[in-house]
Amino acid sequence: MSTTLGAPAPDQAAYMLRAAASAAGRGYKQELLDLLDVQPGQTVLDVGCGPGTDLPTLAERVGGRGTVDRAKIDRVLRHVTDPAVVLEQLRLATRRGARIGLAEPDWDTLVVDAEDLGTSRAFTRYTTSEVVRHATIGRSLARCAERAGFVTVICSG
Ligand SMILES: C[S@@+](CC[C@H](N)C(=O)[O-])C[C@H]1O[C@@H](n2cnc3c(N)ncnc32)[C@H](O)[C@@H]1O
Repeated sequence: MSTTLGAPAPDQAAYMLRAAASAAGRGYKQELLDLLDVQPGQTVLDVGCGPGTDLPTLAERVGGRGTVDRAKIDRVLRHVTDPAVVLEQLRLATRRGARIGLAEPDWDTLVVDAEDLGTSRAFTRYTTSEVVRHATIGRSLARCAERAGFVTVICSG
């Protein structure tokens, strides 16, 4: 069985569904989906959709059929080998003027409460250097998107 820091790894799909159902998860997802401004008839791409958490909402907003006018990547770029390549491919896959939404935490801001500060900081250091591949992609999303040829309209968080 795979482990995380010695503990059994949780079921990934169940974890993603639970995180999305939390108050924080619902809040940022609602903001992200609203910013996408999905219209009936459009086609929406959800890159790395996991268990498909957001697909029912997107399907409801899209209704029928369309071209790729909207796309979102929610907490996936931190995993991939090269986020720049993924964004470049996304630009090629979407129509000119398409709206995209990117969401990533910045793991350098992870703070846990431990009795001694050294342990707390070591945990953050370990997570950012050993656990998460692109731990600081969150702060760079606008820059990465612009480098791939997108125009940044709104930066939030
Ligand atoms: C934190 S989950 C987010 C899932 C979904 N976007 C959501 O908001 O519920 C990360 C997702 O990234 C996907 N993923 C990880 N590495 C990937 C890769 N190299 N290419 C495509 N997807 C990847 C995983 O399969 C997983 O579904």
